Amino acid sequence: MISDKGMTKRIAITGGAGFVGSNIACMMARDRPDCAVVAFDNLKRRGSELTLGHLKTAGVDFVHGDVRVASDIAALGSVDLMIECSAEPSVLAGHDSDPSYVLDTNLNGALNCMEHLRRTGGEFIFLSSSRVYSIPALMDLPLISAGERFEIEPGATGHGWSERGIAERFSTTGPRSLYGTTKLAVEQFIDEYRAAYDLRATILRCGVLTGPWQMGKVDQGVITLWLARHVYGGALAYIGHGGEGRQVRDLLHVADLYDLIAPLADGIGQMDGCVYNIGGGRTVSVSLLELTAHCRRLSGRDLEISAIPETRPNDVAYFVTDTTQIETATGWRPKRGVEETLEDIHRWLIDERTQLEPILGDTA
Ligand SMILES: NC(=O)c1ccc[n+]([C@@H]2O[C@H](COP(=O)([O-])OP(=O)(O)OC[C@H]3O[C@@H](n4cnc5c(N)ncnc54)[C@H](O)[C@@H]3O)[C@@H](O)[C@H]2O)c1
Repeated sequence: MISDKGMTKRIAITGGAGFVGSNIACMMARDRPDCAVVAFDNLKRRGSELTLGHLKTAGVDFVHGDVRVASDIAALGSVDLMIECSAEPSVLAGHDSDPSYVLDTNLNGALNCMEHLRRTGGEFIFLSSSRVYSIPALMDLPLISAGERFEIEPGATGHGWSERGIAERFSTTGPRSLYGTTKLAVEQFIDEYRAAYDLRATILRCGVLTGPWQMGKVDQGVITLWLARHVYGGALAYIGHGGEGRQVRDLLHVADLYDLIAPLADGIGQMDGCVYNIGGGRTVSVSLLELTAHCRRLSGRDLEISAIPETRPNDVAYFVTDTTQIETATGWRPKRGVEETLEDIHRWLIDERTQLEPILGDTA
């Protein structure tokens, strides 16, 4: 059970030792002394164990548990709000390998969370993903090479997309990776739980999130990996889309995500039943070539980057989030740009070098 120490709100964050979960947990504990915040995690992700000290200092209780195991979640007792941040978050998970971990954690684990809330009450925030969108439809976007990046052809527009990026009504039909499919399936189960059991829930379809405490890997968290390799040294490659590094993503600093979630500690209110795209948007987007230039400036290191022209499965050349809907509904918008976000990550890589280099360095 969460020890609530007489506090008025109880907030559980599953995946709470991970990158997003630990950041949200620490910031929530910092800003809301009236809330008992607990981080629940099985420490599957390499490096998540490093956040435990950070959580403790922030006053967050840690519970070692697995979302695949209903009795582990039951041990949390009733909560006012659960923020589901646990996942196997790689878009390559299960590709050419056993898919059971990604399916059991991302789908059954999230269902276990919802079942717990059905029995005990409490609201639900689900961290979904831009990966719910159809890969073939994303591949069909009309792109041009503009300097160091791909861009959507000027003036072009279609169902759920424009120069502003990808909106919520973009196609979710067709293959979208096992990871993306688990996220879309949970979104559909949320509809059922809302209809059948009055679960109050909101869905945040996040694009690329980044910031300190992201244990970046080639297949997930590439922004921190890219900067870490520049700082610590090591190999990097422009993979796919011709190997030229023109692929583009928008990115969102995790502190901007927190700014959106923070007020929901008092209740999800009007966001109940809503699905929002969350990301940095076009003004906070970057190609790999542009990212390299930022990393060179910050690190002072001119790393040689090789080229692998073949595109990996489930990789798309361009994804920028159209955040019009969330901005209109709430007034929220990202405050941190690309440079500020990378400077924050850089500071963290320098400050925590001893413990991070074995994980983010080239020998990892
Ligand atoms: N980081 C991104 O760019 C991004 C983008 C879109 C959506 N998301 C979603 O946001 C959430 C958080 O992602 P993240 O970047 O923090 O990933 P992360 O890997 O850093 O954190 C996930 C945490 O879940 C834990 N976990 C894994 N399996 C578990 C299980 N069976 N039981 C309990 N804990 C388990 C891991 O140990 C890890 O600490 C995920 O749902 C992810 O799909 C992330």
